[in-house]
Amino acid sequence: MTISFCTEDANPQDFSGDALILILGREEDAAARLGCKPGKTLAAALAHLADCGDLLAKPDQMVWLYPALMRWGREKPWLAQRLLLLGLDSAVTDQNQLAEKLRLLGGLVAGQLRKIQAKEAALLWPDGLALSRSEAAAQLATGFALGGYSFSGYRLDKEKHSRPPLDCRLHFLPGDAPAEGLQESLQRVEIEAAAVYRARDMANTPANYWTPASFGKQALQLGKMKKLKASVLDRADLQRQGLEALLAVSRGSAEPPTLSVLEYRPAKSCPTVLLVGKGLTFDSGGLCLKTPANMHEMKYDMCGGAVVMAVMQALPALGLRDLNVVGLVPATENLSGAAAVKPGDVVRHFDGRYSEIVNTDAEGRLILADAIAWGLAAFRPDAVLDVATLTGAAIVGLGHHYSGLLSNNETLAARLLAAGEATGEPFWRLPLGTEYRKQLDSTVADIKNAGDRSGGTITAACYLQEFVGNTPWAHLDIAGTAWNFTKKAYVPKGPSGVGVRTLLHCLTHWDTK
Ligand code: BES
Ligand code: MN
Ligand code: ZN
Repeated sequence: MTISFCTEDANPQDFSGDALILILGREEDAAARLGCKPGKTLAAALAHLADCGDLLAKPDQMVWLYPALMRWGREKPWLAQRLLLLGLDSAVTDQNQLAEKLRLLGGLVAGQLRKIQAKEAALLWPDGLALSRSEAAAQLATGFALGGYSFSGYRLDKEKHSRPPLDCRLHFLPGDAPAEGLQESLQRVEIEAAAVYRARDMANTPANYWTPASFGKQALQLGKMKKLKASVLDRADLQRQGLEALLAVSRGSAEPPTLSVLEYRPAKSCPTVLLVGKGLTFDSGGLCLKTPANMHEMKYDMCGGAVVMAVMQALPALGLRDLNVVGLVPATENLSGAAAVKPGDVVRHFDGRYSEIVNTDAEGRLILADAIAWGLAAFRPDAVLDVATLTGAAIVGLGHHYSGLLSNNETLAARLLAAGEATGEPFWRLPLGTEYRKQLDSTVADIKNAGDRSGGTITAACYLQEFVGNTPWAHLDIAGTAWNFTKKAYVPKGPSGVGVRTLLHCLTHWDTK
């Protein structure tokens, strides 16, 4: 990552970088906030801006000034090349709403600094908000880091990049108001942002470069980190262990499947959470082939797996202590080669359950069910969380602004809903029930892998529920939010990394009582 933060007690006037950024709350006096004495030329310029009504802290309001042009006679110079003034609706009392506003502002700042290719910038942020000073800074920093993301891509002509990388250090200038724990907050943001970058990078990598083997390699790479243990099951292992549904999905492809396992176990006596992410590196639909129109987007069908990898990478650095977390990523392609699984075939899951495959395009639940069943047997977790771009129906039902949440446990569901609200990755809970499960009754097997079109997100979750038994479980369907959803200042087009910050928030705020 090329973005970093530092805290400094410097006088704004002495900051000599590319831009000094002032975030101005409602009715605030810009000159006073900058410590610029009345009578100075810059103070007069700021007063003029206020008179014009241009400093009223309207959303997205933005003014660039050049301090060097606003100096008279022997006045002490302002060393920053530019001054950027931004308005914030500081009267917001809801913490989650304020946090989102701050992240959006941070994203906006990143966009502006990218345009001028800034290397060093400093930021002053307002006081007396509904969030603590360091938490407000953390939200700004989150938006800044996530908005600063770009994927280097595959091009010979590096100059032709539509989003040149931002390589900038942002200095937080607390000024007079103390910001307790600021350094730690910013460090946490750097760790989280690095995780989101990792998830976005994996998803941006095209399916011919990011294969099931890549997940395995990535896992082993992460396994070199202190406190993370990695192992990868290859095709032969999967056969020995009996994950036949995962193997069935992979049979139409030349790429062998993998199951990556990452273990973070700081305290044996604490509860264990199992994370499972769908790592479908390309979903053509298999023999039940998808239409060509948006098929290329199915390289993103591994976003759930990317989330799990990214979360596991961040846990040791965040120093999570009272929770054990195991991450699983079942990975495969879903293609239609000569050996491909056929509609009507019956496959045996790890737990012995037989499934009739009536639609080869409903492959995600097959690989997740195998991984969940295997993970339950191997790790006996106290809770299971899975993340997947599972159903087109999630897009039909919720569009691109909420992810689906389905759970057999009220506490877990409430925890995830709260984490989603806090991180700006909101979830909407959908029901489960035996009446929906009936749609999956098979005449030849224990279950079939697809029902009719109605309630598609729910029946997909019903399928998974069958395999978790009584273990508290929550399923996140991120089909509508994992990529190209309505652009936000801190979520560029392409993969969003949605789920990473929700899960990190959820795991770091886990109440083990
Ligand atoms: N990966 C898709 C779901 C998907 C579709 C995600 C579009 C994002 C955008 C999944 O494997 C799939 O194909 N699901 C089918 C299930 C159906 C056949 C029961 C679907 O949603 O159409
Ligand atoms: Mn599919
Ligand atoms: Zn899929």
